[in-house]
Amino acid sequence: MSYELIETNVDTAAGVATITLNRPEARNALSNALMNEVSAAVDVFENDEDIGCIVLTGKGGKAFAGGADIKEMADRTYAQNHKENFVTANWERIAECRKPTIAAVVGYALGGGCELAMMCDIIVAADNAKFGQPEINLALLPGAGGTQRLTRFVGKSTAMDMCLTGRMLNAEEALASGLVARIAPADELMDLALEMGKSIASKSKLASMAVKEAVNTAYETTLSQGVMFERKAFHAAFSLEDAKEGMAAFIENRPARWHNK
Ligand code: HXC
Repeated sequence: MSYELIETNVDTAAGVATITLNRPEARNALSNALMNEVSAAVDVFENDEDIGCIVLTGKGGKAFAGGADIKEMADRTYAQNHKENFVTANWERIAECRKPTIAAVVGYALGGGCELAMMCDIIVAADNAKFGQPEINLALLPGAGGTQRLTRFVGKSTAMDMCLTGRMLNAEEALASGLVARIAPADELMDLALEMGKSIASKSKLASMAVKEAVNTAYETTLSQGVMFERKAFHAAFSLEDAKEGMAAFIENRPARWHNK
């Protein structure tokens, strides 16, 4: 595939694919065409058996993404949004990806940029990262899940503060609030993200997919329903050759060899 607004890279040995948003002059503003390319790349990598993890990042050092492309959005109408199913059509693809995803955020992750990062399974951030939902300053509101995912991550009071005042969280605040899993100096962030991706990709891919489904279920159900989902998934894991291999390898004191079966 060739792309104009993103770059992709595959580290075959590590099993990690990287998608880089590539409009640094526009702070990687998320135009419709760019989101189509992100969607297409996720399709490719999700279906590539050699890929165990996808890292999403932004080029230029100043922004992961400054949000949806305001210049492109300005003339939109309600009818057009409704007809084209604006946002859902191509933005949700990364949230629906069955393989683990990591957002590596350097600089600003604002509006749709913050929402895109939150669609990933793990967010890691550079020490210069800033997370915000400043749509209120445009008399808009988050439209790609921001009010919902952010509230689940940071709680109601902080989510309200961010969405009503437009206040940004810095990297330390994002780490403390649970929005971000790890932080690193900006020039070390990609190494960290790729190392985490490599670690994830080195596990049984079927087991990783089951973990992802189970953790995500925590956001969708009651505790008892979620525990029941986990129990069924745990029981089913014993049908995997990989689980038998993992336990045998431990008992025989040798490295496990995964066959993703
Ligand atoms: C279109 C954008 C943009 C955006 C930046 N640019 N963000 N263009 N849409 N979201 C463009 C600027 O217009 C400018 O273009 C160039 O990128 C550099 O921007 P600067 O402001 O000069 O850069 P900087 O001083 O580094 O500030 C970066 C920034 C700021 C903090 C990210 O640009 C900013 O506040 N951007 C808007 C943030 C925002 O409101 N996001 C929410 C959007 S609504 P020129 O041509 O002048 O060089 C949204 C809704 C999502 O995301 C709902 C789901 C779809």
